[in-house]
Amino acid sequence: MQQLGRLTHMRVAPHTRVAPAPEPALLSRSALPAATRSPPCPRRRAAGSAARPRPRGPAPAAAPSDYDNPALYTSEDAFSLSSYWDARYRREGGAPFEWYRDWGSLESILSRHLDKSERLLHVGVGTSRIQYQMHLDGYRDIVNVDYAPVCIQQLSALHAGVPGLSYEVADCRSMPQYGDASFGGLLDKGTLDALLCGESEEADSLAMLLECQRVLAPGSSYVCITWQPPRARLPYLQHPGLGWGVEFYEVGQQGAREGPVAVAGAAEGVVEAFPRMSYSHFVYVCTKR
Ligand SMILES: C[S@@+](CC[C@H](N)C(=O)[O-])C[C@H]1O[C@@H](n2cnc3c(N)ncnc32)[C@H](O)[C@@H]1O
Repeated sequence: MQQLGRLTHMRVAPHTRVAPAPEPALLSRSALPAATRSPPCPRRRAAGSAARPRPRGPAPAAAPSDYDNPALYTSEDAFSLSSYWDARYRREGGAPFEWYRDWGSLESILSRHLDKSERLLHVGVGTSRIQYQMHLDGYRDIVNVDYAPVCIQQLSALHAGVPGLSYEVADCRSMPQYGDASFGGLLDKGTLDALLCGESEEADSLAMLLECQRVLAPGSSYVCITWQPPRARLPYLQHPGLGWGVEFYEVGQQGAREGPVAVAGAAEGVVEAFPRMSYSHFVYVCTKR
């Protein structure tokens, strides 16, 4: 794990290497990265959410890359800036980069909470290919947005002929182009995490979550994938202004999984006991009432 100022950029064990499904080959590099990576900015934690040290195994060997260069991290808030992401995506030339986890390791959970027949919104798509994997698995209509225009241009070109996948530039803190209750599910992998790297993380995260809640149809779910455990994410996801119930899963290596844990009904101490695994990620499912 590298410490870059107050940013931490951690490589995780390559637990989810899968061959990507073939897709239109417009881009120069089409292989998934060797390992999923964690993540934006662990420095932001809710008050009283002191981090419990997480067990660390030996870091997997990796060739030096741009991400090893501290000069690229011009400020601790880089992950919250569209200019940072645009520069990064331009530099990478459209190569796919999957944060945290791919579809193969999330499918069993996500398919329970995101209905294939519904219109879904994927906020902060980046250069992920999870939406393409979902498309191959039968998802019919996924609107993918990001506030960094470069990745939207790249993915629009790449998937131009793919029915049911669309790409639009949008800031998920304000999406007036989408009506109330206009989506039957929302997917966020690492985007709330990125917003929480900014100086105005309280306001930004609340704006984003309220907007996601607004465009979500009652009975459907905002699904948030992050590396942060409940003590660090529930204070945001359980804001009193959000009319949804929250449950979560912990996903570890080799298919290990805990949950779902319904937060409202959980006995005292149960939620605090997470993380229970090494190198895990969390899937929070927030279902609108
Ligand atoms: C950590 S990356 C995750 C990318 C992708 N979801 C994945 O899992 O590989 C965060 C993404 O969120 C986008 N993002 C951050 N803040 C955003 C906002 N306010 N509106 C839309 N996209 C945002 C960034 O441009 C970036 O592409």
